[in-house]
Amino acid sequence: MAIERTLSIIKPDATRRNLTGAVADRLERAGLRIVAQKRLRLSRAQAEAFYAVHRERPFFNDLCTFMTSGPVVAQVLEGDNAVAKNREVMGATDPAKAAAGTIRKDFAESIEANSAHGSDSIENAAVEIAFFFSAIEIVG
Ligand code: CMP
Repeated sequence: MAIERTLSIIKPDATRRNLTGAVADRLERAGLRIVAQKRLRLSRAQAEAFYAVHRERPFFNDLCTFMTSGPVVAQVLEGDNAVAKNREVMGATDPAKAAAGTIRKDFAESIEANSAHGSDSIENAAVEIAFFFSAIEIVG
Protein backbone atom coordinates (compact mmCIF):
# COMPACT_ATOMS: atom_id res chain seq x y z
CA MET A 1 0.00 0.00 0.00
CA ALA A 2 1.14 3.51 -0.77
CA ILE A 3 1.03 6.57 1.42
CA GLU A 4 -1.44 8.95 -0.23
CA ARG A 5 -3.00 12.30 0.47
CA THR A 6 -6.64 13.19 -0.12
CA LEU A 7 -8.88 16.19 0.41
CA SER A 8 -11.70 16.00 2.93
CA ILE A 9 -14.35 18.64 3.54
CA ILE A 10 -16.54 18.63 6.63
CA LYS A 11 -19.68 20.22 5.18
CA PRO A 12 -21.96 22.98 6.54
CA ASP A 13 -24.59 20.56 7.90
CA ALA A 14 -21.91 19.01 10.12
CA THR A 15 -20.27 22.25 11.27
CA ARG A 16 -23.74 23.67 12.05
CA ARG A 17 -24.46 20.74 14.37
CA ASN A 18 -21.02 21.00 16.03
CA LEU A 19 -19.88 17.68 14.57
CA THR A 20 -16.42 18.79 13.35
CA GLY A 21 -14.66 16.83 16.08
CA ALA A 22 -16.93 13.80 15.73
CA VAL A 23 -16.21 13.56 12.00
CA ALA A 24 -12.48 14.13 12.51
CA ASP A 25 -12.47 11.40 15.17
CA ARG A 26 -13.88 8.88 12.67
CA LEU A 27 -11.13 9.79 10.20
CA GLU A 28 -8.36 9.51 12.78
CA ARG A 29 -9.69 6.24 14.15
CA ALA A 30 -9.48 4.84 10.62
CA GLY A 31 -5.76 5.62 10.61
CA LEU A 32 -5.94 8.80 8.54
CA ARG A 33 -3.71 11.64 9.72
CA ILE A 34 -4.96 15.24 9.43
CA VAL A 35 -1.85 16.96 8.06
CA ALA A 36 -3.59 20.26 7.21
CA GLN A 37 -6.89 21.78 8.28
CA LYS A 38 -8.72 25.11 7.93
CA ARG A 39 -12.22 26.38 8.60
CA LEU A 40 -13.61 28.79 6.05
CA ARG A 41 -16.78 29.89 4.35
CA LEU A 42 -16.81 29.31 0.61
CA SER A 43 -17.95 32.10 -1.67
CA ARG A 44 -20.41 31.23 -4.43
CA ALA A 45 -17.64 31.52 -7.03
CA GLN A 46 -15.37 29.22 -4.98
CA ALA A 47 -18.11 26.59 -4.55
CA GLU A 48 -18.90 26.70 -8.27
CA ALA A 49 -15.21 26.35 -9.13
CA PHE A 50 -14.66 23.48 -6.71
CA TYR A 51 -17.65 21.54 -8.05
CA ALA A 52 -17.16 22.59 -11.70
CA VAL A 53 -17.13 18.94 -12.77
CA HIS A 54 -20.81 18.75 -11.70
CA ARG A 55 -21.83 21.97 -13.53
CA GLU A 56 -24.28 20.19 -15.84
CA ARG A 57 -25.88 18.08 -13.10
CA PRO A 58 -29.41 19.01 -11.98
CA PHE A 59 -28.28 19.34 -8.35
CA PHE A 60 -25.41 21.77 -9.09
CA ASN A 61 -27.15 25.00 -8.06
CA ASP A 62 -28.61 23.59 -4.88
CA LEU A 63 -25.26 21.99 -4.03
CA CYS A 64 -23.46 25.34 -4.36
CA THR A 65 -26.13 27.07 -2.27
CA PHE A 66 -25.75 24.43 0.42
CA MET A 67 -21.95 24.51 0.39
CA THR A 68 -21.99 28.30 0.93
CA SER A 69 -24.67 28.15 3.66
CA GLY A 70 -22.16 27.95 6.51
CA PRO A 71 -18.56 27.20 7.37
CA VAL A 72 -16.74 24.16 6.09
CA VAL A 73 -13.58 22.54 7.42
CA ALA A 74 -11.16 21.54 4.67
CA GLN A 75 -8.58 18.92 5.57
CA VAL A 76 -5.70 17.10 3.94
CA LEU A 77 -5.68 13.48 5.08
CA GLU A 78 -2.58 11.32 4.80
CA GLY A 79 -2.18 7.60 5.17
CA ASP A 80 -2.01 4.18 3.52
CA ASN A 81 -4.47 4.13 0.65
CA ALA A 82 -5.93 7.43 1.92
CA VAL A 83 -8.25 8.11 -1.04
CA ALA A 84 -10.10 4.79 -0.80
CA LYS A 85 -9.85 4.64 3.00
CA ASN A 86 -11.50 8.05 3.36
CA ARG A 87 -14.31 7.09 0.99
CA GLU A 88 -14.86 3.87 2.92
CA VAL A 89 -15.11 5.74 6.23
CA MET A 90 -17.48 8.34 4.68
CA GLY A 91 -19.81 5.74 3.15
CA ALA A 92 -22.03 6.11 0.09
CA THR A 93 -22.99 9.60 -1.13
CA ASP A 94 -26.63 8.91 -0.26
CA PRO A 95 -26.86 8.28 3.50
CA ALA A 96 -29.82 5.96 2.89
CA LYS A 97 -27.39 3.68 1.02
CA ALA A 98 -24.39 4.14 3.30
CA ALA A 99 -23.11 1.20 5.34
CA ALA A 100 -23.58 1.04 9.10
CA GLY A 101 -20.91 2.84 11.06
CA THR A 102 -19.95 5.25 8.29
CA ILE A 103 -19.88 9.04 8.69
CA ARG A 104 -22.74 9.59 6.25
CA LYS A 105 -24.90 6.83 7.71
CA ASP A 106 -24.48 8.19 11.22
CA PHE A 107 -24.40 11.96 10.60
CA ALA A 108 -25.71 12.96 7.15
CA GLU A 109 -29.09 14.66 6.79
CA SER A 110 -29.62 13.97 3.06
CA ILE A 111 -27.80 13.18 -0.18
CA GLU A 112 -26.98 16.90 -0.45
CA ALA A 113 -26.30 17.67 3.23
CA ASN A 114 -24.14 14.57 3.53
CA SER A 115 -21.65 15.86 6.11
CA ALA A 116 -18.41 15.09 4.28
CA HIS A 117 -16.69 15.23 0.91
CA GLY A 118 -13.69 13.16 -0.12
CA SER A 119 -11.65 13.16 -3.32
CA ASP A 120 -12.54 10.28 -5.66
CA SER A 121 -9.06 9.63 -7.14
CA ILE A 122 -5.41 10.41 -6.49
CA GLU A 123 -5.42 12.75 -9.49
CA ASN A 124 -8.45 14.71 -8.24
CA ALA A 125 -7.02 14.72 -4.73
CA ALA A 126 -3.97 16.65 -5.95
CA VAL A 127 -6.18 19.21 -7.70
CA GLU A 128 -8.58 19.55 -4.74
CA ILE A 129 -5.76 19.83 -2.17
CA ALA A 130 -4.18 22.62 -4.23
CA PHE A 131 -7.57 24.39 -4.34
CA PHE A 132 -7.51 24.88 -0.55
CA PHE A 133 -3.89 24.59 0.59
CA SER A 134 -0.42 25.72 -0.34
CA ALA A 135 2.49 23.35 0.19
CA ILE A 136 3.71 25.26 3.26
CA GLU A 137 0.36 24.63 5.05
CA ILE A 138 0.65 20.82 4.78
CA VAL A 139 2.75 19.34 7.55
CA GLY A 140 3.09 15.56 7.42
P1 CMP B 1 -19.72 15.15 -2.79
O1 CMP B 1 -18.89 13.96 -2.49
O2 CMP B 1 -19.31 16.43 -2.14
O3 CMP B 1 -19.75 15.38 -4.38
C1 CMP B 1 -20.81 16.05 -5.03
C2 CMP B 1 -21.96 16.31 -4.12
O4 CMP B 1 -23.19 16.60 -4.75
C3 CMP B 1 -22.25 15.08 -3.30
O5 CMP B 1 -21.22 14.86 -2.37
C4 CMP B 1 -23.61 15.44 -2.72
O6 CMP B 1 -23.50 16.20 -1.54
C5 CMP B 1 -24.22 16.35 -3.79
N1 CMP B 1 -25.39 15.75 -4.43
C6 CMP B 1 -26.63 16.25 -4.35
N2 CMP B 1 -27.48 15.50 -5.04
C7 CMP B 1 -26.77 14.49 -5.58
C8 CMP B 1 -27.10 13.38 -6.42
N3 CMP B 1 -28.35 13.15 -6.83
N4 CMP B 1 -26.10 12.54 -6.77
C9 CMP B 1 -24.82 12.76 -6.37
N5 CMP B 1 -24.45 13.81 -5.58
C10 CMP B 1 -25.42 14.65 -5.19
